[in-house]
Amino acid sequence: MRTVGDLSVNGERAELDGDAAWGLDAGHAADGPAADGSLSRLLPPVPVRELRAHEARYGPPGLRGGSLIDEVTRAGLTGRGGAAYPAGPKLSSVRERAGLRGSVVVANGMESEPASAKDASLLARVPHLVLDGIALAAEAVAARSAYLCVRRQAQADMLAAVIAERGAHDPVPVKLVLVPERYVSSAESALVRHLNGGPALPGFTPPRPFERGVRGRPTLVSNVETLANIALISRHGASWFRSVGTGTAPGSVLVTVAGAVKRPGVHEIPLGMPVRDVLGLAGGCAEIGGVQAVLAGGFFGSWLPGGAPLDTPATPDALRSAGASFGAGIFLALPAGGCGLAETTRVLRYLAEQSAGQCGPCVNGLPAIADAFGQLAFGRGPHVRTVRELRELFGLVDGRGACHLPDGVTRLGESALRVFAEDMRRHERGPCPAAFGSRWLPVPAGLTRAPERRQTSRQMATIKLGTSPEQAVRP
Ligand SMILES: Cc1cc2nc3c(=O)[nH]c(=O)nc-3n(C[C@H](O)[C@H](O)[C@H](O)COP(=O)(O)O)c2cc1C
Ligand code: SF4
Repeated sequence: MRTVGDLSVNGERAELDGDAAWGLDAGHAADGPAADGSLSRLLPPVPVRELRAHEARYGPPGLRGGSLIDEVTRAGLTGRGGAAYPAGPKLSSVRERAGLRGSVVVANGMESEPASAKDASLLARVPHLVLDGIALAAEAVAARSAYLCVRRQAQADMLAAVIAERGAHDPVPVKLVLVPERYVSSAESALVRHLNGGPALPGFTPPRPFERGVRGRPTLVSNVETLANIALISRHGASWFRSVGTGTAPGSVLVTVAGAVKRPGVHEIPLGMPVRDVLGLAGGCAEIGGVQAVLAGGFFGSWLPGGAPLDTPATPDALRSAGASFGAGIFLALPAGGCGLAETTRVLRYLAEQSAGQCGPCVNGLPAIADAFGQLAFGRGPHVRTVRELRELFGLVDGRGACHLPDGVTRLGESALRVFAEDMRRHERGPCPAAFGSRWLPVPAGLTRAPERRQTSRQMATIKLGTSPEQAVRP
């Protein structure tokens, strides 16, 4: 049996050469779907790391500048960093504001979500495609400088060599930036703060980076997969891009599939592939009894129950309608023998530890939420009061942070209360053995938050709920 231990989250989750760690499929047709429905537009069967090999496979870029922005808009490309914001209008907004001083492009290759390996795999397999995307985006938005942000030294070393190989290939030189690791250091406002000489911690918005970002200039922060898609659209156009996917969610997307599946890994799928088939790409459920639920969207996502809901098409809209999320394309399978309440508690504890410690609701609320969940998973009932408290806590933290960490916690917690309602009733007689059994989600090990003194929602309401990053409110 393959467990999350194999993906080891011990510091280095996906190896720089993500293929080794994540078992990328290597038998895809050049462009069309393979027999299992997966694609190889972004992830070719073998890595294309040298510039000459890259040019031989992809050829020179085609559309540029304003025409490229129009084509990206026609293609309906949405951001692959988690929020699925339309890429074309975002490019236009930065270009319109560039003025004489020019703008800035920031490629977000941080991938701070512990359950994700798609950006590491992309950068390891087709680094020049990402760099082409940065160069094309920089030209389109009239940028004077461009940055590629990553968080692992080995990754930075490899990319430095790739950038050096390009020489004067790019209109704007790309500066590689190693950003301190933390769950929230990859949020766009944290990257902008860091590039402005501050800490890699989220700042309050507005202004959003596209209005005023690095050195006060309009700044395009884009996920590396989004940029690689821009490089492909420049060459092949919008119709080609839209020839896979659905009418409202066109194109292909990288997904990371892990948890109780036979072959955890990264795959490229057409948007709209049923979640069941996405799990099938990873060999399906590795455990007897099948899939109990899927954590869709990763730690910032929500639970989708097993059974018929697994037929939901993997698109942001369809998953939202089903009460789940697409996020950055992460699908984590929980088997019938797993405990959704215990798994959710572990993720919530991790997220609480990752709080940047800047905003009162986050600093005080997230540990209280994690502890209340721990009570549902590992304590005895009745749980009615704990659930009521949890709902009040959700109301107190949601939308109250500088970044969306508290909103993600609320979304995950609410979905767990909904999907594991039956388990909660059973746990009133005491936790089931599954709560202490195998762990299925790749929550980083070694986090040692001491058990919190539990705060009730009433106590929470009296806590200072400062909402400015400068108002550091510590418990
Ligand atoms: C807590 C937090 C963590 C984030 N982590 C990432 C990340 O690791 N990679 C990423 O591309 N976007 C991440 N985002 C989203 C970015 O803020 C930003 O929206 C994204 O990079 C924009 O790129 P896109 O439009 O191409 O999706 C995160 C957001 C939040 C609130
Ligand atoms: S909401 Fe939390 S993680 Fe986000 S900036 Fe505030 S304290 Fe930091």
